[in-house]
Amino acid sequence: PVLVVDYGAQYAQLIARRVREANVYSEVVPHTYTTEQLLAKNPAAIILSGGPSSVYAEGAPAVEPQLFQAGVPVFGICYGFQAMANALGGKVAKTGLREYGATNATTVGAARSILAGMPETQITWMSHGDSVHEAPEGFEVLASTAGAPVAAFANEEKALYGVQWHPEVKHSDLGQQVLENFLFKGAGITPDWTTGNIVEEQVERIRAQVGSSRVICGLSGGVDSAVAAALVQRAVGEQLTCVFVDHGLLREGEAEQVERDFVAATGVKLYVANEQERFLKALAGVSDPETKRKIIGREFIRAFEEAERAIISEAAAEGESIEFLVQGTLYPDVVESGGGEGAANIKSHHNVGGLPEDLRFELVEPLRNLFKDEVRAVGAQLGLPAEIVGRQPFPGPGLGIRIVGEVNAERLELLRKADAIARAELTAAGLDNEVWQMPVVLLADVRSVGVQGDGRTYGHPIVLRPVSSEDAMTADWSRLPYDLLARISNRITNEVDGVNRVVLDVTSKPPGTIEWE
Ligand code: XMP
Repeated sequence: PVLVVDYGAQYAQLIARRVREANVYSEVVPHTYTTEQLLAKNPAAIILSGGPSSVYAEGAPAVEPQLFQAGVPVFGICYGFQAMANALGGKVAKTGLREYGATNATTVGAARSILAGMPETQITWMSHGDSVHEAPEGFEVLASTAGAPVAAFANEEKALYGVQWHPEVKHSDLGQQVLENFLFKGAGITPDWTTGNIVEEQVERIRAQVGSSRVICGLSGGVDSAVAAALVQRAVGEQLTCVFVDHGLLREGEAEQVERDFVAATGVKLYVANEQERFLKALAGVSDPETKRKIIGREFIRAFEEAERAIISEAAAEGESIEFLVQGTLYPDVVESGGGEGAANIKSHHNVGGLPEDLRFELVEPLRNLFKDEVRAVGAQLGLPAEIVGRQPFPGPGLGIRIVGEVNAERLELLRKADAIARAELTAAGLDNEVWQMPVVLLADVRSVGVQGDGRTYGHPIVLRPVSSEDAMTADWSRLPYDLLARISNRITNEVDGVNRVVLDVTSKPPGTIEWE
């Protein structure tokens, strides 16, 4: 793999994604790894990521100089660039000139090495206080900026490279090209990480892990569980049973997508637990958001376990046992919870509405190495319906947390209709890819006066919450065209009984969250 050493900013994952986009397999590792640990992974190249520190700050993560003697190509980015310069005897200094944002970088001499084929100046995205003033011995300076006399350098002979800017962010015009120049020319790597290869490799791994045992898998309607299940189905076919707990809190058409379209596309054996009544009963009279979440989470686990028991006894009747449970864990979850190795950057991961961590089963996690866009590509490769593969994020507790107030069948029905209209219009406008997700929220406890036809109405407002985001950690409200908003508003107020107002949420995150509850 190409190893991306994480210096603690949020850039490492993005770099790893960009490397994958170049069809090269990459992994993120913590900066606490020693040179020995890095080399033990047999890396094709190593990328040192950006980070928040100054190389002179107390406790700043250093790079061991012996890393550069190992004969492995290394690319330093931002902090990694400075740490590399520092470790090899270059000069890093505080210029007092902080560069932040779009900055012109100009080549020193002809464009060459990792800047080969590029114009004399390019727009680069910067975020640094210190600058490299002198390149280490044996390095040539490739580019500079107003605030950074050495903004890119190379030692071709040792295959060591670095840039002060962030090639991984889209604001760096030629960023991906710089990265690919490093991977393909600097490190001589062949790009062979393709969707087809991912499927083949995972299918083999699943077969090796599962053997002839039976496997159980929960489907939520979301893309991750669907792709994980489809991969396991491809690998061990008849040994897999999928469970779909229909809690009645999905959007219009989503239960059918699982029960009909997914099954048709994969041939998976599906056990459906129709639990709509159970969830409605448990949620009756409850309007506190956290209480709703807890109830939905608890009932989901109970319902899943009941289904599980039914499947286990069916299998037992055939003399078989179930030993594996499929989970759609993704690579960002793995990295954020410490990578399963090392101790860097631990953020505990929560997923309300997830499956019980049942120790009776060994986990099968075929998406553990994949980013979300790769999961979608694998899903498409496996022939899953576009509605499932392209589905926007949707919370486990579903519409239960999009009704502000008590949840009941009538309100769910109303919200489902409004949501279906909003989604259909967004799709028709060709703007699905412009928004990260668009929650549609019913303010069930609010009423306002309206007029329709000749009569006064006293109905509920519907909130549209379209947001743009990279990772749901932060978000901004999407500037949807007014005529689209007008169409959605018109249709919802005309077609959905009980709604006489549509409002737009224009709050970023923070301070607002994406969901209302
Ligand atoms: P917030 O509202 O916290 O949401 O800004 C961030 C992202 O997480 C989704 N979300 C959930 N996903 N179970 C999930 O699987 C949940 O309980 C849950 N709550 C929020 C939300 O849709 C957004 O994408």
